[in-house]
Amino acid sequence: MNISKLIVVGIVALSLSACGNKHNDTTAPSPSAAVKADSANIATLYQNYCMSCHGTQLQGGQGPNLQKVGERLDEAAIIKQIQKGGGGMPPFQVAMKDEELKALASWLAQLK
Ligand code: HEC
Repeated sequence: MNISKLIVVGIVALSLSACGNKHNDTTAPSPSAAVKADSANIATLYQNYCMSCHGTQLQGGQGPNLQKVGERLDEAAIIKQIQKGGGGMPPFQVAMKDEELKALASWLAQLK
């Protein structure tokens, strides 16, 4: 168990128990709340698009283990993998907004 995994588990639990799928577009969050919302978004993105193949703990399954994916791939390579898919992974270029894609990829790229 490394720290980033613990954080993911915490965030997933939080985003499940907290505000459902309500968006905070209308509120003006403090800077720290904005950071939390970002991490929660990444967890939600991961849950929605990636967890079925890469596992609840990034441990892998149908797709490879992503727990230390940042050691193998940089952010650009991860973005490319998500956009284009390949090797049994579907492309997500259409499903995801650019900033969501970037946030998810940079989070994965720092898992080392
Ligand atoms: C339908 C199952 C499936 C889904 C959903 C899926 N993947 Fe994958 N993913 C795979 C498979 C299979 C591979 C292996 C591809 C290969 O070997 O070329 C892979 C490979 C990867 C890799 C490269 C890992 C490496 O070590 O080379 C990354 C990064 C990745 N996926 C991220 C994601 C992200 C982020 C999402 C969500 C947006 C996602 N995947 C959704 C099946 C999936």
